[in-house]
Amino acid sequence: MAGVPPKDSGKPETGNVTDDPAAGDEEGMALSEGVTEKEAVGEAEGEGMTEKEATAQVKGVAGAEVGGVGSSEDAGASEEPPETEQVTMKVWRGDPSGGAFVDYVLPRVEGEVVLDVVHRLQATQAHDLAARWNCKAGKCGSCSAEINGKPCLMCMTRMEELPGDTVTVAPMKTFPIIRDLVTDVTFNFVMARQIPAFRPKEPEPDGTYRMQQIDVNRIQEFHKCIECFLCQDVCHVIRDHEVNKLYYAGPRFFVRAAVLEMHPLDTIDRRDLLKEHLGLGFCNITKCCTEVCPEHIHITDNAIIPLKERVADSAYDPVAWLGRKIRGRRKARALEVLELAPAHAAPTSDDLRPAMATQDESGESASRDSAGAPDRSDGGNAGGEHGNNTGG
Ligand code: SF4
Ligand code: SF4
Ligand code: FES
Repeated sequence: MAGVPPKDSGKPETGNVTDDPAAGDEEGMALSEGVTEKEAVGEAEGEGMTEKEATAQVKGVAGAEVGGVGSSEDAGASEEPPETEQVTMKVWRGDPSGGAFVDYVLPRVEGEVVLDVVHRLQATQAHDLAARWNCKAGKCGSCSAEINGKPCLMCMTRMEELPGDTVTVAPMKTFPIIRDLVTDVTFNFVMARQIPAFRPKEPEPDGTYRMQQIDVNRIQEFHKCIECFLCQDVCHVIRDHEVNKLYYAGPRFFVRAAVLEMHPLDTIDRRDLLKEHLGLGFCNITKCCTEVCPEHIHITDNAIIPLKERVADSAYDPVAWLGRKIRGRRKARALEVLELAPAHAAPTSDDLRPAMATQDESGESASRDSAGAPDRSDGGNAGGEHGNNTGG
């Protein structure tokens, strides 16, 4: 704390100790030479000061003695302009023919999310950087990307929560590149068409439909899905094996199937479809999809595992088989429904092109990395706890 200058000094209050440290030392010495604080205050009052001013001056002098040269340095440092913090954004730039990470250095701005920084880059250094977004509120599911190797929404990832001074931003690996951070998610729309829509039973005689609250609660969380496809991106079944896209719908569509399968008013049985065509059995319950879901849907525990149990009951439980024999099937089989609706036929590789990457002659798919598009081995795992969380 700076001392209060004597009334007649004419100096401003701040900077007194800094401007004339010798004066402070002289008076401070008087205190240390046996003069009590009370005596010093009395002396100052005798010089015409009020008690408050005198006490403040004596305490200020003592503070100067304790603070000494350090106080002067602190005061000097506060006058220097603060250094601007920089952040390096490693952004993947390219198209289907290839690409690489490009470094951009720009100042940090407090409170920004990654999408803000991408917008600043577009406005300043990379005018042609392609990025997809709509709501900037975590609700449209457009801005999915891999930030420091982890599938995230760019608009919901705060810069200050990312460790270090370098942030890596790459497009979703599971889907083909269109350009820069924008991927082609056609695969998901093709898969969506494989699942027959809700078909309700006849209403009650009074014309209404009734459901138990417990049935409403069971499927409520699945309706929060924003179709960001981050769960699809992280699922190793299609992330690491391109050819599986012909046989596997992915976690987003298991959630969709669960909504319908658990709906008490629905009249279609999708269990055969899940087993035979949507590849439910490929999922080995690693829970990576649950970890990245921005809506915190318990994809594995509440959708996939109950579906697997229902499929197992349907296919292998002798008691359930006997029950169906006695009571007859009460639901239409999804595979029969699909035959009536050719638009829902199982996808072919033509349907999925360009959703699928190039295939080699043996029919095995070449990964996008080996096809020359994103090789993110140097940047994808750059970030501590945001490190290698990809891959189911
Ligand atoms: S639990 Fe693992 S394997 Fe199953 S859908 Fe989720 S990410 Fe894929
Ligand atoms: S289930 Fe979650 S991660 Fe998957 S598409 Fe829906 S919101 Fe995104
Ligand atoms: S911009 Fe809509 S979820 Fe990010």
